[in-house]
Formats: sequence, C-alpha cells, structure tokens
Amino acid sequence: MEYKTVTSEDMEQVGKQIAKSINGGDVILLYGELGSGKSTLTKGLVKELGVKEIATSPTFALMNVYKAIHPKIKKVVHCDTYRLRDKNDLEDVGITDYLYKPDTLCIIEWPDKVSHLFTGKNNKKISIEYIDSERRKIITE
Ligand SMILES: Nc1ncnc2c1ncn2[C@@H]1O[C@H](COP(=O)(O)OP(=O)(O)O)[C@@H](O)[C@H]1O
Ligand SMILES: [Mg+2]
Repeated sequence: MEYKTVTSEDMEQVGKQIAKSINGGDVILLYGELGSGKSTLTKGLVKELGVKEIATSPTFALMNVYKAIHPKIKKVVHCDTYRLRDKNDLEDVGITDYLYKPDTLCIIEWPDKVSHLFTGKNNKKISIEYIDSERRKIITE
C-alpha cells in the first residue's frame, strides 16, 4: 500500500489505518529519516489499539511498553534505536521478552541498527519518504 500525507494529523490517520491490519506477534520495522514522521505514525497506530498513554517518542527511554485494549493485542512495545550506543542495549532492556509474542505488537524505529533481532516471520516493513518539508510518502509491504 502507498499513502501520501501533508500534515501530522494525516500521518496519525495513516497509523490508525495500518492498525486495522495488525496481528498479534507482528513486528513493525519503521524506516525513514529523522523527522519524517515515524513517531507520529506510531502515535496514531497505538491510539487505534486502545493505548491510553500518549505515545511520546522513546528516544531517551529506548523502549516503552504500553497496555493495549484490543481483541488480539494486549501490549504494544515501541522502541527507538536512534541513540543506541551498543547493539546489545535493546536486549539488555528486555526486547526479546516481547518480540513475536502472540499478544504483543512491537514497533521499531531505526531497525537497521539491531537487524539481528528480527529473525521471525511476522515482520512488517513501513518506509516513510520525505517529499518536502510537509509532504510524506508512506509505503507498506
Ligand atoms: N506529513 C507529515 N507527517 C508527519 N509529520 C509531519 C508532516 N508534516 C510535518 N510534520 C512534522 O514533522 C515532524 C515529525 O516528527 P516525528 O514523528 O517525531 O519523526 P521521526 O519519529 O521520524 O523522527 C513533526 O514535528 C511533525 O509535526
Ligand atoms: Mg521518532
């Protein structure tokens, strides 16, 4: 699928749309430059899964775990490896307890830094491309 957005509200809507086709155990690999809208898309997506907390960017926390209210998904894990120093740091905070678990959705910003972790089958790639300061193109597999 391909989407185009001009505002961050549109980007949240794309996240909500993507949430409708998510299954428990999926791992979303979110590609795109800094400021392209990965965290904005995530915000819409997790809202649609019934997460009540505001999904702020976990850039400083590395990993945030949210409780979802959804028939198939009980937990949403949001990781941002942008400031990751050592590629083992995400394992140290417990990511492998969540990856590919049937009642859990994981969303990973900058997945290339820790690509060795994504050996399961249920990976879903989403790429965001900058068109200009406001317009973005989103490509899903
Ligand atoms: N079409 C758009 N989609 C998403 N964000 C947009 C768009 N146009 C402008 N923006 C702005 O770009 C920034 C995107 O930030 P963020 O979602 O944190 O990006 P990332 O997580 O990829 O670094 C926000 O400040 C947002 O307001
Ligand atoms: Mg981000």
